[in-house]
Amino acid sequence: MNLEQIQKLEAKLLLSTYDRYPVLLHKGRGVYVYDHKGKKYLDLLSGIGVNALGYAHPAITKIIAQQARLLVHTSNLFYHEYQGRLAAMLTKISGMDRAFFTNSGTEAWEAALKVSRAYARANCPGEKEPKWRILALEHAFHGRTFGALATTHKEKYRAPFEPGVPGVEFVKFDDVADLERKFDATVCAIGFEFVQGEGGIRPVSKIFAETARKLADKHDALLIADEIQSGLGRTGRWFAYQQYGIEPDLVTVAKPLAGGLPLGALLASEKVSGCMHPGMHGTTFGGGPLACAVSLQLLHTLERQKVLKHVQKIGAYMLRRLEELQAKNDAIRELRGLGLMIGIEMESAEVAKTVFKQLLDRGIVVNRTDETVIRFLPPFIVQKKHVDHAIRQLEQVLANNTAAVATAEKRS
Ligand SMILES: Cc1ncc(COP(=O)(O)O)c(C=O)c1O
Repeated sequence: MNLEQIQKLEAKLLLSTYDRYPVLLHKGRGVYVYDHKGKKYLDLLSGIGVNALGYAHPAITKIIAQQARLLVHTSNLFYHEYQGRLAAMLTKISGMDRAFFTNSGTEAWEAALKVSRAYARANCPGEKEPKWRILALEHAFHGRTFGALATTHKEKYRAPFEPGVPGVEFVKFDDVADLERKFDATVCAIGFEFVQGEGGIRPVSKIFAETARKLADKHDALLIADEIQSGLGRTGRWFAYQQYGIEPDLVTVAKPLAGGLPLGALLASEKVSGCMHPGMHGTTFGGGPLACAVSLQLLHTLERQKVLKHVQKIGAYMLRRLEELQAKNDAIRELRGLGLMIGIEMESAEVAKTVFKQLLDRGIVVNRTDETVIRFLPPFIVQKKHVDHAIRQLEQVLANNTAAVATAEKRS
């Protein structure tokens, strides 16, 4: 089947939830992905932050084949050898104490919200009404299920499905005074991304994060770090909150966790974990032997090959190259980033759209988020030569765009 036929079939048979790019992908190797006609794309988005080791990494393909022959699924009625071992690895790198495995980011976030309410209830003395309010941030994205949606800021995602889960209030992004105003004894949790992803690659300030921690302690509320996009090495540390020296009570991870297979996790401190008991939460697929075995392999590979050091170095190099480009180009308004999580704020949504499209035509995959931001989430194995190639292409795209705008202005 060719692209046109597949487009027609999907248009007729799928719920129209996605606005796909007109590219039919066929295979991937390293940092490159190929379409059905063999056109090669340098992938600087890695399936929205998933393919940390790129495509067809030998350590990942080997373990998938090996484990698929042994055991793919068990349900959580039985033990298998990998959940406990993966929890040991995840708690070691995060400083948390326990894990609950899910299939996706939104489910991990959903679990965090449920645990927050359960913790408040379990720690509510006497006849008092347990506290239940949850604070989230403006521009936040936490997923598409109802709880996650309630804490996701963009109106257009929430409005079609209202009424949503009650009890959520949004704090102005990085606004300490607003945080202090809204955080009182009725709040059971505050949850945020230390570096917002879908919201346009925006890190919160240290003072904001510290104030959130302080207020959570004061009111015995929980601090939830959404590390679904920023976690597991993307910022050059295992978790973005480690860049701030802050310890959350709950941490959510997903995207790169199982090298492209669906797997998420909620990580929890011991203090919090005591509120959960058998039957209170669960999943059929989450934490299956295939995904967990692959995840263990992925984390060991990142650790053994000192990939996080590489992410720090190559991320800093990429930001530096982009800063050079910014100095020469007015269309770039701002650069934001940490490690290999980088956003370019363009002067308008139109320019961002054009840049994205022209880069794709030139065989470079990035994406546009929060209307005006070009987002890079490259695989951790990206090298200088790939960065240099992408910068050259971006430079040409920006130059063409400036020339086109100048011509249009002259004509009008
Ligand atoms: C920060 C953050 N939280 C939650 C999610 C939801 O994850 P999933 O799409 O796996 O449900 C995402 C997805 O982009 C995300 O970036």
